[in-house]
Amino acid sequence: MPVQATQNVIGKEVSALSHLKDGSEFGLPLGGLFALGKLLFDANWTDQEGGGRPLTKGTGRPISNGSAPLTGNRSFNRISAPDANSCMGCHNSPYGISGGGDFVTNVFVLGQRFDFATFDPADKTPTSGSTDETGQPSSLDTLANMRASTSLFGAGYLEMLARQITEDLQAIRCTIKPGETKDLVSKGIHFGKLTLTKTGLWDASKVEGISRLSLLSSMSASPPTLVIRPWHQASNVVSLREFSNNAFNQHHGIQSTERFGIDTDPDGDGFTNEMTRADVTAVTIYQAGLQVPGHVIPRDREIEQAVLTGEKLFQRIACASCHIPRLPLDKQGWIFSEPNPFNPPTNLRVGETTTLKVDLSSDELPAPRLKPDASGVVWVEAFTDFKLHDICEPQNAEPLDMNQSVWSKKFREGNRRFLTKRLWGEANAQPAHFHHGLFTTIRRCVLAHAGEALKTREAFQALPAGEQDALIEFLKYLQVLPPGTKDRIVDEKFQAREWPPAWSKK
Ligand code: HEC
Ligand code: HEC
Repeated sequence: MPVQATQNVIGKEVSALSHLKDGSEFGLPLGGLFALGKLLFDANWTDQEGGGRPLTKGTGRPISNGSAPLTGNRSFNRISAPDANSCMGCHNSPYGISGGGDFVTNVFVLGQRFDFATFDPADKTPTSGSTDETGQPSSLDTLANMRASTSLFGAGYLEMLARQITEDLQAIRCTIKPGETKDLVSKGIHFGKLTLTKTGLWDASKVEGISRLSLLSSMSASPPTLVIRPWHQASNVVSLREFSNNAFNQHHGIQSTERFGIDTDPDGDGFTNEMTRADVTAVTIYQAGLQVPGHVIPRDREIEQAVLTGEKLFQRIACASCHIPRLPLDKQGWIFSEPNPFNPPTNLRVGETTTLKVDLSSDELPAPRLKPDASGVVWVEAFTDFKLHDICEPQNAEPLDMNQSVWSKKFREGNRRFLTKRLWGEANAQPAHFHHGLFTTIRRCVLAHAGEALKTREAFQALPAGEQDALIEFLKYLQVLPPGTKDRIVDEKFQAREWPPAWSKK
């Protein structure tokens, strides 16, 4: 019996009735592993199974003020977390499955470096309450960056695309000889140029759109890793697994063995092995195996015409230069392997156990799915380029980027670069739009494009009103479909429909 069932003790209140024994993840059918991962993603963790973290912060480090553990009134905190009962508590839109969330599910990213964020001026120990690392008092705007919950639909295909791009870029890097500069290009996406100087130093100053975490310093004797980090809107995280190890601890105080050790209890809640390696694999496969969004286009000639026009305009005014409508996953990239070969330490890495392979095109996973075409390519229609861009206003009066903080000089400068937002599922997977979730409409998002996207936004504004409306109309039909829908392009009754419509081809 691979599943280690928790004894059903009368009166005991636990949410995860079963945990997977390490090794058992390899013996389960795909549908079973996915279902167990869903149970863990949806579980409402209690303090009878390790929920909460009295002695550790959301960063995993010990709390600053050990005499004030995070228990009782301090066991939850909306800003510094634990801030939710389950992953699903935030990732639930639409249909209660793992999309993004309402504004109320925003996370105050970096708030987790505080024990218990408070605005009580009497609380003066740095990062234990109201003051930051420099001893400055904190306000809601300065102690954390507000981020909207993002959608996880199609996550497996996205992570595999990111891995393939990394492999391509690293392969180019390997061919660069001293004194040479090469363009970093993968799947038609340009990531700038990489140079190896005659003296053998790597110059990554002309590399574009890749997280600084993957570049090291720009003049270095060791080569930049060039790892594409598809997760976190600021491109910080390599894999669903790494994200899960972080999130279980930060949001729920559930500590995984691969991050925190076997038979240890660093958070001092009296529980060890709160999340096994096999559990983390299951919850990763659950996220990777989620269905992909589709198009819901009503059978209405006027709407059909608007969508056709909007799609063409999206190309014509170069929205598609960043929001690349579709990218090819070739070389059997739809076979998702776990762990990710680029995982950083403290996350399961290749070679530490058997690699698990999952066919993302399998019908054991929820529909709709992307399947390879006749030439062995899965086309992933996510509308992104996996690149970081600065599309902020130079002097932004609006809080487009709520990153001003007094934590450190770097932090104070703020982050202006975000990954090109995926637009599949745009209309219903994330009701709180943009990285901060402050926008309630797609139009507001489009009008907020500046910086690198300024010309494109001006082109949008220069369109006649009817064409602007058509473009928004096109984006309105990029939706997550009700569970069980098999086809990706459906009408208002979620029945398969032809697209483009027959009348438009005449
Ligand atoms: C309190 C709300 C909240 C909870 C609870 C939560 N998340 Fe998230 N999640 C977010 C937000 C907000 C982001 C976007 C973070 C960012 O971009 O800075 C996010 C992003 C992610 C991402 C990356 C997606 C992307 O588009 O970059 C993954 C993966 C993820 N969460 C998994 C989980 C898992 C697994 C759990 C449960 C252990 C969980 N989340 C619990 C709010 C939450
Ligand atoms: C230079 C690259 C670039 C171009 C060109 C561009 N975008 Fe974006 N887009 C981004 C980035 C980056 C984000 C994420 C911004 C953030 O959250 O701070 C984004 C976000 C969005 C969002 C918000 C999605 C959400 O729900 O949060 C929409 C909608 C959008 N873009 C549509 C468009 C349209 C329409 C055009 C053409 C008029 C366009 N974009 C052109 C890079 C670009």
